[in-house]
Amino acid sequence: MPKVCANILEAIGDTPLVRINSITRAIPAAVYAKLETFNPGNSIKDRMALKMIEDAERAGELKPGGTIIEGTSGNTGMGLAIAAVIKGYKCIFTTTDKQSKEKVDALQAFGAEVIVCPTNVEPDDPRSYYSVSSRLAQEIPNAWKANQYDNLSNSAAHYEQTGPELWKQTGGKLDHLVVGVGTGGTASGTGRYLKERNPALKVWGIDTYGSVFKKYKETGIFDKHEIYPYITEGIGEDFLPRNVDFSVVDHFEKVTDKDAAVMTRRIAREEGIFAGNSAGAAMAGVLQLQRHFRAGEVVVVIFHDHGSRYLAKMFNDEWMRERGFLEKSGLTARELVSMGLSGELFSVEADEPVQHALRVMSQHDFSQISITRDHRLVGSLNESQLYRVLVERPEVKNEALETVMQPAFPFVDISTPVDLLATMITPESPAVLVRDFKTAKTFIITRSDVIRVL
Ligand SMILES: Cc1ncc(COP(=O)(O)O)c(C=O)c1O
Repeated sequence: MPKVCANILEAIGDTPLVRINSITRAIPAAVYAKLETFNPGNSIKDRMALKMIEDAERAGELKPGGTIIEGTSGNTGMGLAIAAVIKGYKCIFTTTDKQSKEKVDALQAFGAEVIVCPTNVEPDDPRSYYSVSSRLAQEIPNAWKANQYDNLSNSAAHYEQTGPELWKQTGGKLDHLVVGVGTGGTASGTGRYLKERNPALKVWGIDTYGSVFKKYKETGIFDKHEIYPYITEGIGEDFLPRNVDFSVVDHFEKVTDKDAAVMTRRIAREEGIFAGNSAGAAMAGVLQLQRHFRAGEVVVVIFHDHGSRYLAKMFNDEWMRERGFLEKSGLTARELVSMGLSGELFSVEADEPVQHALRVMSQHDFSQISITRDHRLVGSLNESQLYRVLVERPEVKNEALETVMQPAFPFVDISTPVDLLATMITPESPAVLVRDFKTAKTFIITRSDVIRVL
């Protein structure tokens, strides 16, 4: 029986573990995702936010009516804001201009104040979101800074909840944990608990290009040259948070922004799971690491947050295209049309003389044209075929088009993949017609349009 909760905070945790089937087809091990999107704030951060608050209350650091301050990319803020509503605290969050606008709007929905700071400054720069939140914590009376990076209540939440839940859900049969690392709370807390139960378990931390974790783990060197701006949200850092326990994470695997973004979309389309960008990074990491996962083993991947926070980013074609993240082979006719690469269909009536078609084609610089009868598509004409008949019989110019026309171009829906269009375009039929049924418009896609995107 689903439990009945006294308030929303009791609904945190006990999230489902769901088998990943399609993306991991080639992997002999069983791969499961821990869907932390099922938490009330739609992310794993609800767990540690509540734990940090309750530990601070017990320690007397957070007093009734106090103000919670935090530098947060959104998810921790959401967890803190929800708890603050129930417990009667005020929230002020600082975040960076890299974060989704939706994340900021969502925090404000819970009554939090949000201050947006520049991303590309050093953590100790007075403008950074770390520094601004620390200053506010000192200036505002009765304020408490949660400090998710160094507050060890963060990893303790995962040691107490996420780890034991996974152990129970898998019946103690768990060989690999794959987890994006930001503050490190999830990987360190969950990993520490699970390794105490099964010392052979491997923790694979997912890192970003532009973050310091991997090099630090492998060489012990904090290398500032590893730091540069990146797009992936929620994981990787430009400093070493106390919550990252490098002895728990066995290996850090870096995933590119593009692979993470593309995989975020695949998780929705192939598994029906609407998860965020760090889930995409973690799943892409699973594929990169697959040689380590053997038949009979169980791999768990943490899906930290929900896809709805990335609608304007990884789930937006325009945003993906601007960054070169859309796989060319994944393009459909719709994208070709919206890129302006194909024109709306032009046609001439079958009883018009051939010279009329010639005029229209040269006026618009068309290599082919569609032929209609009573506005229904009945045929087509292309340059090379027209050239052949004109050379043979120049007087054909004055005859009706129906005497020389060829079969109509194939007709497909606008969602047809470009790969498929490419196979339909042949020397005999050098164009395909695509129909957008919503707008009732028809477009013509030619061989040269397809060549431009392949
Ligand atoms: C979306 C998302 N994914 C992954 C993480 C990383 O989790 P952790 O901070 O526990 O390392 C965070 C938080 O930093 C996050 O917000």
